[in-house]
Amino acid sequence: MIQIILFIVNIALLQSCFAETPETYLLKTNSLPSDLNFMPTLGNGHLGYTVFGDAIFMNGVYNGAGGNSKRARIPNWLNISAEVCDRFGCATGNDVDVNGTSYETDLRDGYFRVLTTYRTLGISVEQRTYPHKFYNRALVYEVVAKRLANRLSKVNSPKFLKLTHFPGNSSDAFDFVVVNNGSSSSGDYRTLRGRTKVLELEKFQPDPQEIFVLFSEPLDHTLQLQWPTWQDEFTYRVIITIDREETVARKELQDVLQLSSRKLFQKHTESWNSFWDNEFSIEIRGDAFELSQIVNAGIFYLVSSLPSIETHQKNEPFYGLSPTGLGRGNLEADYQGHNFWDTEIWMLPVVSLFGYEYAKQVLDYRSRKLEAAKYHANTTGYKGARFPWESAYTGTEVTNPCCPEVSQQEIHISPDISFALQKFFAQSHDNAWACDTAWPITREVAEFLVSRASCDDSKNECHFLDVMGPDEDHPDVNDNVYTNAVSKIALNFAEWLGKTCGNTSTELLEKWREVSDRLVILRDENLDYHPQHQGYIPNTIVKQADTILLGYPLNFDTSTTHSNDLRLYANATRESGPAMTWSMFAANYMRSLQIQEANEYFERGYKSYVRPEFKVWSETPLGFEGSANFLTGIGGFLQALIFGYGALDFGRTNDDQFLMFFGITMTPPNVDEVHISSIPYGDAKCSLTFRNRSSSIECSDRIGQGFQMVQGQKKTVLGRSFNLTRRSEDPPIQISLLR
Ligand SMILES: *[C@@H]1O[C@H](CO)[C@@H](O)[C@H](O)[C@H]1NC(C)=O
Ligand SMILES: *[C@@H]1O[C@H](CO)[C@@H](O)[C@H](O)[C@H]1NC(C)=O
Ligand SMILES: *[C@@H]1O[C@H](CO)[C@@H](O)[C@H](O)[C@H]1NC(C)=O
Ligand SMILES: *[C@@H]1O[C@H](CO)[C@@H](O)[C@H](O)[C@H]1NC(C)=O
Ligand SMILES: *[C@@H]1O[C@H](CO)[C@@H](O)[C@H](O)[C@H]1NC(C)=O
Ligand SMILES: *[C@@H]1O[C@H](CO)[C@@H](O)[C@H](O)[C@H]1NC(C)=O
Ligand SMILES: *[C@@H]1O[C@H](CO)[C@@H](O)[C@H](O)[C@H]1NC(C)=O
Ligand SMILES: *[C@@H]1O[C@H](CO)[C@@H](O)[C@H](O)[C@H]1NC(C)=O
Ligand SMILES: *[C@@H]1O[C@H](CO)[C@@H](O)[C@H](O)[C@H]1NC(C)=O
Repeated sequence: MIQIILFIVNIALLQSCFAETPETYLLKTNSLPSDLNFMPTLGNGHLGYTVFGDAIFMNGVYNGAGGNSKRARIPNWLNISAEVCDRFGCATGNDVDVNGTSYETDLRDGYFRVLTTYRTLGISVEQRTYPHKFYNRALVYEVVAKRLANRLSKVNSPKFLKLTHFPGNSSDAFDFVVVNNGSSSSGDYRTLRGRTKVLELEKFQPDPQEIFVLFSEPLDHTLQLQWPTWQDEFTYRVIITIDREETVARKELQDVLQLSSRKLFQKHTESWNSFWDNEFSIEIRGDAFELSQIVNAGIFYLVSSLPSIETHQKNEPFYGLSPTGLGRGNLEADYQGHNFWDTEIWMLPVVSLFGYEYAKQVLDYRSRKLEAAKYHANTTGYKGARFPWESAYTGTEVTNPCCPEVSQQEIHISPDISFALQKFFAQSHDNAWACDTAWPITREVAEFLVSRASCDDSKNECHFLDVMGPDEDHPDVNDNVYTNAVSKIALNFAEWLGKTCGNTSTELLEKWREVSDRLVILRDENLDYHPQHQGYIPNTIVKQADTILLGYPLNFDTSTTHSNDLRLYANATRESGPAMTWSMFAANYMRSLQIQEANEYFERGYKSYVRPEFKVWSETPLGFEGSANFLTGIGGFLQALIFGYGALDFGRTNDDQFLMFFGITMTPPNVDEVHISSIPYGDAKCSLTFRNRSSSIECSDRIGQGFQMVQGQKKTVLGRSFNLTRRSEDPPIQISLLR
């Protein structure tokens, strides 16, 4: 009797330890996507892989010269599959129940698992895999086999497990050598040393990159593990650790193996839970189960490619966010793991809401590559710093040799980075960071822009000739409006920082001001709209959102001209355009309170791009070829929700104030209320709850001087915490920090 009670108490304890994951965080299916590229991509900022894929990738490790540089593929030694066997053979599909296999991604706890029930054999097998969020050099595979209570007999119950690994082909990126065989006699771990084969650019990369891969199990042959029939539960795990330093990888493996499977897993889930509980989450109330799952999955896949902030051993510098994340990068469709404007314009505004540390690490990558950007400017005949269209290990231009014109002409990448720096400063108000990190970049970008501009003194005008805007269907154009607008913002921010961070010659500041003032912004007087570039004929089809970005995110023009842009370009954008194009139409229509159009574009911006099983994004709608795990699309979609429907923004006013803005909110179709928690602003944390035409924002600041509300002409001191409600009839609210 006492034993039974103890047993029940034990079960209760076990359950309280692992709280049930809410359905909106649990992606479950009985059938895999037909294209395994749409399996979940997992990562922890140091390592990443796609479940069942053939590759593991490590932050910052690339192989190949120039435009052939791509993430260096490590065979996926973690792709292990377990079979249950007895001496007559192994269980087959016939032994599995109908729908007896469930594939699950648990977004809240951060892992993937396959659960198989063999009813005829009376057992269940759970296989789970995850990149550890705290022990981030470690990748974990675990199998837990259980004999079910209602099994018929022990006689035909399986007696061993067979583990086979399917790592894919050998790597063409690394020369791997075995430096330790890890024979059980030596009591050591099997260790491989890999060196990349080809340098990206010798001037900035004198040596190949080197990594060490350590295995808790040799894995060079199939493992047969005895499972005595008297044993009800059987657990086994394989750990792989990878680092540039053998000592780091070794320490990680030793420390991880000190922990029981349960403790190790618990540390991982705690780290993920802490992200959702303390760093960021969005709750959607209403009849919107699938939308909730898509939002949660979107955040999950973005975070998976970002560094863990708290880790067992110190992180290496971060090499930025690529359009398809850290766990992909070997295919052309994976953008080879490079950084583009996608990083700053599409993903960063959302990443900055997760916490400043994430945003700083993303932007630090650009800081560390400033010398390479200066080199790129110089070798292409300009001054200052010119960030390459595509950037990988060295920070020099690595655009695919297929498409030289994008690297020559999409100069907007450099001012895009300055714009992102300004937006992040408007949110964080971090003065030290602004002068240490933002200023050196912004200054050099301003110098590049001045040297790149063609100025006509007689007409008092400056132009950017032979450029390509975000619309890549139109090369060799002059005065792409988006490029010129974002360049003006970049020059003006450089001027402001130059004054604030001190000691800049007035001559330099005046030069930046002059070019900014003289840069032409094309406008058609008759139709009152912005032609995308010189000679643009209305209704000419464009690839993607370009001129409409002058509204959101640039906040450069929100007049009737912008409304007309929306109407005209909506009719002239390619059907096959990338996902975030529609999200930007949604955000901009929402801000101009054209709700029906906003709703249409919002739904168009995700419904056909998200693959159903694990809510993985594709770059293109169903039926078109495109990239998997398309984080850029997620970035655009979440921006539409937060900054479009939620009408939040951070930015600079014409009189040089850096503020948080609240516009008129709406909710997407079928949604009653959206709650966004843990939005950082200054030293404060805020939460935003928005409904149809009413919202409340609640902030509290334990460190700073508190806030001031600016509403029209009225200024109100709010103290160090406040809870404000805004209805659509109220004048716009802006919040500034008291200093
Ligand atoms: C990974 O393992 C799964 C079985 O668990 C298999 O279907 C898949 O083909 C493997 N991937 C590779 C690259 O071999
Ligand atoms: C298996 O799953 C499919 C799809 O969810 C469902 O339609 C079917 O009824 C299930 N079969 C059984 C026997 O549960
Ligand atoms: C693996 O290698 C074989 C033989 O070289 C090749 O035919 C196959 O395409 C490769 N598979 C992948 C996924 O690269
Ligand atoms: C590992 O084992 C192989 C074959 O058993 C042997 O050729 C090799 O020299 C060993 N390497 C090391 C580093 O012990
Ligand atoms: C590039 O750098 C070299 C060496 O510093 C310098 O002489 C040259 O003028 C620079 N080119 C431009 C266009 O600034
Ligand atoms: C300001 O710049 C000048 C010349 O560029 C330099 O000599 C001086 O030390 C600088 N002063 C400060 C305070 O940084
Ligand atoms: C939409 O484009 C078509 C041609 O592609 C044109 O005939 C039509 O007038 C356009 N509609 C608007 C509202 O501009
Ligand atoms: C939103 O509120 C307005 C009144 O402010 C109402 O007319 C409209 O129907 C509401 N829309 C939704 C989608 O609830
Ligand atoms: C802020 O005010 C709103 C509206 O009055 C209310 O619903 C919400 O609970 C308040 N939030 C906090 C944290 O007090």
